[in-house]
Amino acid sequence: MATLLITGANRGIGLEFARQYAADGWDVVATARQSSPELDALGVRVEPLDLSDADDVAAFPAKIDVPRDLFIANAGTSRPMNTGGAEDARDWQKMMMVNAIAPFQLGQALLPKLVDGGKMIAISSGLGSIGDIGGGWIPYRTSKAALNMAWRCLALEAKPRGVTAVALSPGWVKTRMGGAGAEITPEQSVGDMRRLIERLTIADSGRFLRRDGSEIPW
Ligand SMILES: NC(=O)c1ccc[n+]([C@@H]2O[C@H](COP(=O)([O-])OP(=O)(O)OC[C@H]3O[C@@H](n4cnc5c(N)ncnc54)[C@H](OP(=O)(O)O)[C@@H]3O)[C@@H](O)[C@H]2O)c1
Repeated sequence: MATLLITGANRGIGLEFARQYAADGWDVVATARQSSPELDALGVRVEPLDLSDADDVAAFPAKIDVPRDLFIANAGTSRPMNTGGAEDARDWQKMMMVNAIAPFQLGQALLPKLVDGGKMIAISSGLGSIGDIGGGWIPYRTSKAALNMAWRCLALEAKPRGVTAVALSPGWVKTRMGGAGAEITPEQSVGDMRRLIERLTIADSGRFLRRDGSEIPW
């Protein structure tokens, strides 16, 4: 049975990944700060994990015993939006932990638990592209650009073990983060990303891709 570990699966894109893989018969371990009725209804194993808590993150990989085929670092935050003052600075630091440092630390520590041929996917964002820059969202952009760099470094470590590490943009998705006016549903985004993940090979490791498989400039 194929095995998935995914962070931030209580709602949004993470919940949809867990739902679709579980429906296909995968053995899913889902993490959440707090589970939700929707996640509980899937009947998958749920592990508590707060990505802003460095001790929680460091202790987590020891709880994962079965070799995994796929790790999806999905959990993320878009707060703060603003960049001025001490409060925003503190929230920005926390965001860097949640969006970049914790995903990398988990990926690195879980690498020995990935099977040969396994895949590690970071759910990044087009807003993390420096080459395709627009305005606003400065804290979020910096956190996803940092995630992209960390994941590219992880890909170098993962390659000798036969593990593929790729950063994916899910598109603009109707979730609490994306808002009701977003372009696509979680079902569409996750369906496209799953088809892409299935096609990825070790030759793709270290790439930053849209859900249709096209390259995003770093
Ligand atoms: N929606 C979009 O348009 C879009 C576009 C580009 C990229 N993304 C990325 O896609 C991923 C999923 O986002 P989404 O759209 O599904 O947003 P969402 O509905 O807001 O879900 C975010 C998920 O991350 C979790 N999370 C936040 N802070 C956490 C923490 N400290 N510890 C553990 N989990 C935490 C949330 O859990 P709680 O319920 O505990 O907060 C929730 O499960 C994120 O990485 C996001 O940056 C989304």
